[in-house]
Amino acid sequence: MLSIISPSTPTPPRFSQRTAWTEESPISDLMSRALAHPQLVSLAAGFVDQKTLPIEGVAEAFADLLNDPADARAALQYGTTPGYAPLRAHVLDLHCQLDGTTAAAANLTIDRVVLTAGSNQLLHLVAESLLDPGDIVLCAAPTYFVFLGLLANLGARAIGVASDADGIRPDALEATLAKIDAAGDLARVKAIYVVSDFENPSGATLSAERRPQVVEIARRWSRLARIYVLEDAAYRELRYEGDHLPSLRSFDPEGITVVHAGTFSKSFSPGIRVGWGLLPPCLVEPVCNRKGNIDFGSPNFAQHLVDRVIRRGGYGPQVSRLKTTYSEKLQATLAAADQFLRGIPGVSWEAPCGGLYLWLQLPPGLDAGTKGPLFDLAIEEGVLYVPGEYCFAPEGEPVRRNTIRLSFGVPTVERIAEGVAALGRALRKVV
Ligand SMILES: Cc1ncc(COP(=O)(O)O)c(C=O)c1O
Repeated sequence: MLSIISPSTPTPPRFSQRTAWTEESPISDLMSRALAHPQLVSLAAGFVDQKTLPIEGVAEAFADLLNDPADARAALQYGTTPGYAPLRAHVLDLHCQLDGTTAAAANLTIDRVVLTAGSNQLLHLVAESLLDPGDIVLCAAPTYFVFLGLLANLGARAIGVASDADGIRPDALEATLAKIDAAGDLARVKAIYVVSDFENPSGATLSAERRPQVVEIARRWSRLARIYVLEDAAYRELRYEGDHLPSLRSFDPEGITVVHAGTFSKSFSPGIRVGWGLLPPCLVEPVCNRKGNIDFGSPNFAQHLVDRVIRRGGYGPQVSRLKTTYSEKLQATLAAADQFLRGIPGVSWEAPCGGLYLWLQLPPGLDAGTKGPLFDLAIEEGVLYVPGEYCFAPEGEPVRRNTIRLSFGVPTVERIAEGVAALGRALRKVV
C-alpha cells in the first residue's frame, strides 16, 4: 500500500555528507560569549584596532572614485574572475617591494595574481583545487584554526608538525613525511601550510634559515606527486622590529611549488575584505575555474576602492600608522605579562616581533579549554581568551590544552593591562 505523507507531516531534513564533517566554528561560540559579557576584556577576537581603521582615507578615495564617472561605472559593474587588473599590478609591486626584487626577476606577471574576498577565500579555492577527501595537508602545531576548519569542511586530513619559536621545524617535517611514506600515504600529501610571519596563533615567524629548507623539503618529497607550500602571509606587513624576511615564494624561482596568499584585511581594512594569491601557473586555471563557477569575481567595487587608496598614496602611511599603534599594544601586552604573569609557575611566552598575538604556555596538565578550570574563572575575573586547543590539527603532534592565544589588536593599552591582570588572578587560583 502506498503511504501518503500528509502536508502537515514534516519530512526530515537532508543535508550533504559534508555537513557532518564539521561542527560549529569555535569562533561563533567565542563571539557569542563576548557579546553575552560586554564588560569583559576580550583578548580573544583577532579583530583589528577600531580607532586606526582608515575612515578618512577611504572616504577620500570613495569620493575620488565616484567623481570619476567612467571609473565609477566600471567599479559599480561586475568585474572579472581574477579581479581588477590595476590592483593585481599593485599587489605584485607590493609583494616585490617586500621581497626587494622586481616582478621580472621573480618570474611573476599579473596573470599569476588572483584577487579574492579576503585571503581566506583564496586558501579555500586552492584547497578545493588540490584536495580530495582523505588528502593530507601538513601544518605547524599550533596553526590558524580557521584553516583547520576549512580542511575539515573538505574532508581532508590535517597533520600537525612540531614547531618552535622559529616556526615549523624542518627536522619534524622530514620525520612526518617519512612516517607518512612508510604508511604508503605519501601520494596523498598535497601541501605544507605555513603562516610565515607572526603566526596566528603562536606569533612565531619562520626563520630566514628555515624558509628555503621548507621549500626544498616540499620539492624533494614531491617524488610521487607535487607537494605545494601554501604560504599564508596575512601578517607580513605588520612587522614592528627588524627587517622583512624574504617570502617563501622567493625561494621558488620557477614559481611552481609555492602558493603565496596575502590580504589587505590586517594592513588596511577587513571590512573591505580584499585578499590575493600569487599562484604557480598550473594552479591559475583550476582556481579561476572554481571561482568562476562560484562568484565569477569578488566584489569589484572593493577592489577599485583599494586601488584608489593605493593610487592616492594612502596605503603606505596607513600601514605605518598601524604599526605604531600595534607596536605600542604589543609592548603593553608584554609589559602586562611581565607584571601579572611572570613568576606564575609553568607560565611562559616568547615575544613576537609583529602581528597581533601572544601565545602563552601554561603548566603541563592545566586544561585552558572551555571545559577546563581556567576558562570560566577567567571570564569571572573579566577576560576572554582563545583556548589553544583549537589550533592543533586532529593528527600528528598532540593537542596542547595548556596553551592560550591572546590577541591585542582591539583593546586599548589600559584594557590590555586589565585583561592580562584578570588572567593573572584566574591563573593564580588554578596553578
Ligand atoms: C593566518 C590568517 N590567514 C588568513 C586570514 C584571513 O584573513 P582575510 O580572509 O580577512 O584576508 C586570517 C584572519 O584572521 C589569519 O589570521
